[in-house]
Amino acid sequence: MAHSAKVVSLKQVIARYPLARDLLLKKQESVICRNRESGKVKNVQFRALFQNNPRFWEHSSSWEYFLDRAVFQDLVNTLRAPKEASHLARRSEGDGSPAAPPEEPPSLTAAPTDPQPAAPANIANFGDDYEEIEELPAVERTPRIQQRTARLAQCVLSPETTPDEAAKAVVDATADTTMINRATLLEALRLGDDQARAYTEEVVKETTRMVKTSIRLVDSEIYNDELVQALVQKSNGTVVQHMTRVFLMGLEFLLFYNRQVITKGVANRIRIRFKRDYKHHYRQLLSHLHDDYVSLEHVFLGGMKGLSEIELTRFATGFLVHDVGKAEDIEYHEGDAGYDRNTVERHVKLGYKAVMDKTNYPREAALITGYHHEYYGDPHGYGYFREFLASYKSANPAAEQDYVMAYTMEPVLDYQVLAYFPAKMLEVVDVFDSLTDPNRKYRSPLSQEEACTMIREEFIQKQLKIDPIIYDLFIDFLDQRRPRAAG
Ligand SMILES: [Fe+2]
Ligand SMILES: [Fe+2]
Repeated sequence: MAHSAKVVSLKQVIARYPLARDLLLKKQESVICRNRESGKVKNVQFRALFQNNPRFWEHSSSWEYFLDRAVFQDLVNTLRAPKEASHLARRSEGDGSPAAPPEEPPSLTAAPTDPQPAAPANIANFGDDYEEIEELPAVERTPRIQQRTARLAQCVLSPETTPDEAAKAVVDATADTTMINRATLLEALRLGDDQARAYTEEVVKETTRMVKTSIRLVDSEIYNDELVQALVQKSNGTVVQHMTRVFLMGLEFLLFYNRQVITKGVANRIRIRFKRDYKHHYRQLLSHLHDDYVSLEHVFLGGMKGLSEIELTRFATGFLVHDVGKAEDIEYHEGDAGYDRNTVERHVKLGYKAVMDKTNYPREAALITGYHHEYYGDPHGYGYFREFLASYKSANPAAEQDYVMAYTMEPVLDYQVLAYFPAKMLEVVDVFDSLTDPNRKYRSPLSQEEACTMIREEFIQKQLKIDPIIYDLFIDFLDQRRPRAAG
């Protein structure tokens, strides 16, 4: 029983009120869909259509989409309410008067069908603050990173800094720098490579300074990861939360790794356990080698070693930008509702292209971005490297990879190894974060213990995706990070 006066065009509503999109997702509203040819009409949840195509209202040639006028009115009222306005309606600033109702759409005659099953309420966006960052002119973005870095540096230097102040400084700096990078790099994708590198140059420079200063703060006594986690949880937007947590946890993990290798002699301890605990795993990866060659030196090309400050900065930069190509809050785990293989692949390739071609970031950061879902050549992984390696192998059928991981890029680019060390370090942090993420859309979050068990069973025992030695180091890292009982 819908009539022309009772519906409004969705395309026009979103063009006029961009934030209506987020509200429609949040409120689990339905959209009236009309087939242009058959005239068939059905009701489908906005969210279900959005997950399939985040801009479905712009692209469909066979369907038109409408909102019930009552729903539309409700949206407008919500957007104009002061409380929502402070959160959502930044784009509507200066647009205080109500819009004239969008043009009347053609009349609808068929009765709506049953809506899709309800999905949990959760705004699927990068972060509320992201809109503000996106609207910030390019010249104002770098000063913002500079300010954040200056505050970080002050925390490092001042003996009076409290752990709370340090936590806030590092979370704010990471979130802002992540969002500024995303906005700037995605804009740069529209430019030619040289022009893009000039466009991103200042952001790259300031981000590098921010990363270096973060390393010093995270490595200092004052850094408290529990305070940091509590603060991240309060920020808006699921993707920016994930990127902030992964950068900071990944950085801590790199520093922990370094301490273990440089001062605690962990390489020797692992060598002693190698035959008993690890060899069978790597046997699968280096099956063409004689048994004697499946050694720690063949797992870590050149043996396990500590990282220089230059390497730490480059790797941490890769951790910071690794998901810069992530377009929306999506499900990354096969088998879960909302999982879409193409979307997962797209964020890796887009991120790689942006960092590699459009910036002067070190190439290490680009490789980390492009290779952070490799899962040791698992055919169900999303690896860029896996694709390159496959085409290299088909052109060079006799070539073999005699080593598992390299610390430097050359053996990766020459196809002498199966993986890039920092990407494997990031992988375990990334998967752990996704599994324990309090904002998981389709499942409740796992505890630390549950997540570790799942990674061991699913990503190591069932199929070797995550590196088993790095995984054990990660468990040691979590153990020293905070008491396991707290997980
Ligand atoms: Fe990712
Ligand atoms: Fe990620």
